[in-house]
Order: sequence, then C-alpha cells, then structure tokens
Amino acid sequence: MPSTPVTLARTHLPNAVRRARHAASGAENLLQRALVSAGARQSEARIAADAQDYWQRPADATWRGNSHWRDAPVFGDSDLWNRLGTEHLAMFDAGARMCGFDRPWQRVLEWGCGGGANAVHFAPRATEFVGVDISPETLVECEKQVGAVCDTPVRSIAIDVADPESAVPRIGGPCDVFLSFYVFELVPTPEYGERLLRIAHDVLAPGGLALIQVKYSDGRWRTRSRRRAYRRGLAEMTTYPIDEFWRIAQRCGFAPQAVQLVPRNELDERYAYFFLRREPVAG
Ligand SMILES: C[S@@+](CC[C@H](N)C(=O)[O-])C[C@H]1O[C@@H](n2cnc3c(N)ncnc32)[C@H](O)[C@@H]1O
Repeated sequence: MPSTPVTLARTHLPNAVRRARHAASGAENLLQRALVSAGARQSEARIAADAQDYWQRPADATWRGNSHWRDAPVFGDSDLWNRLGTEHLAMFDAGARMCGFDRPWQRVLEWGCGGGANAVHFAPRATEFVGVDISPETLVECEKQVGAVCDTPVRSIAIDVADPESAVPRIGGPCDVFLSFYVFELVPTPEYGERLLRIAHDVLAPGGLALIQVKYSDGRWRTRSRRRAYRRGLAEMTTYPIDEFWRIAQRCGFAPQAVQLVPRNELDERYAYFFLRREPVAG
C-alpha cells in the first residue's frame, strides 16, 4: 500500500517539503523501534483495536488511497490502479503454470480486498468471488467495481480485526484460489499473520493455490515488525524474514512452491510474493 502520506506527497508537494516529511517519518519510525527495543511493545489486542479503528472509519483521501479505492488522488491521473491487478493476475498465472495448477476457479477469495483493484481482474475468471475486509464501505466499493466489469457473484464478508476466524463459516465452501496483496504488512503482528495463514490453509480446497504478498525484513533494525503506534506506521507493522515466512507457511500445512521478490515498486519496497499450495489428497 502507499506508505501513507509519503506517496500522496510524491504527487502533489514540492521536493523540499517531500524530503522534510520523509525525514520526519524516518525519525518517527526509529523512535518507535527504539521504544520497542526498550520494552515498550504494545499488546496485539491494543494494536488490533487501533487497526479496527483506522480501517473501519472511512475518512479522507489518504484513507481512500490506503484502501486502494480507484478514485483516490494517489491513483489520480495514472494507470497504477489498473496495473496493480493486471500485474498480480499475470504473476498468479505464471506461478500457476509453474505449479501445474490448472483447474477452473470455482471460488476465489481475496483477504483484504480493498477497493477492488485485484478483484476486477480475478473475478471475471471465477464462478464466485469472495472479498473479506474490515471495512463495510470498502466491501461495497469492491462490489461496485467488480459489477462494472463482470457478472460474477461477489460474497462480501466484513470481519473484526480481532476475530479473523469468524470469516471461515461464512465463505460458503472450499476455495480454489486464496489471494492477499498489500495486507500482511498491515496486520497487528507476525503472529496474527500466522493466524491468517492457517485460515488460508483451512479454506483452500486440497490442491488449491494461495498467492500471498508480505513485506520482508532484510536484517536491518528499521525493517523489523513495528509492534506499536499503528496509525503512524500502518505499512510497517508486520514484516518477516523471507525464510521465516516460508517456514511459517510449512508449519500451517502449506507446501510452499516459490517466492518472487519485488525489492521496490511504485508504492513501496521489500515485497515478497509466496506461492503456497495446499497438498492435494493423496491417491
Ligand atoms: C492497501 S489495501 C489493499 C487492497 C487490495 N488488496 C489491493 O491490493 O489493492 C488494504 C486493505 O486491507 C484491509 N485490511 C487491513 N487489515 C486487515 C485485516 N486484518 N484483515 C482483513 N483486511 C484487512 C483494509 O481495510 C484495506 O481495505
């Protein structure tokens, strides 16, 4: 996702202001990490409550940008919104070929579907599209965008941050494809991300394929999970060393197939995309 006001600033503000904001946000990030190192970590429940408060209340243009709504100024006069989903679909197709995943998509689920940038590309290929998100307004926006491009039925599931498992019985049946883009970096903690991976494994049909994007830590202190002050560093909250996420996925029952790295893109940096297969039933 856009690393909050910085991306908007990129579009509208003079260079000096942009640099000053960037420096201030870097300093704030270091301060928060120093506090965590000194033992001032916030509880997962506290961070989850802050996340709920942020995402559930539609606010200004920055909120719409962070939720990837098509009309947000950050996507304004470029084709970036459209390219997000186009590129993810091409990546999924390439990974699916590599994994020998060639079944029809009865049900595709996107966790944290936002304003539908991926949904408008994946839904036309599915019999049913399931969008899960915290924000009911965002789910309505996603449905609207999908409805403008295809007739695929959309099942929208609003969850509370604290209880992602509540989505499972509402999904309607096993999924062939599980997607999540620009979301795992926003979840309260790495342990919470592991809960989402368990959900992904549980809702996928045997032989189903997940494509999950995370932000990776690269060993530098400032790239670790943030563990406090959600609103001031949404897009830095949760990171994983690449090999650790691979192992967590295995612990959750997945057979990881591949990882694709994107060290930097137009929105942010340090992205890793994991192709995770739920093992087919033997025999
Ligand atoms: C940056 S947007 C990404 C939207 C979409 N996936 C995309 O790639 O365009 C993040 C979305 O994740 C949602 N979100 C944040 N935390 C979440 C969580 N714990 N579970 C589900 N959705 C979450 C937000 O409400 C928002 O709509």
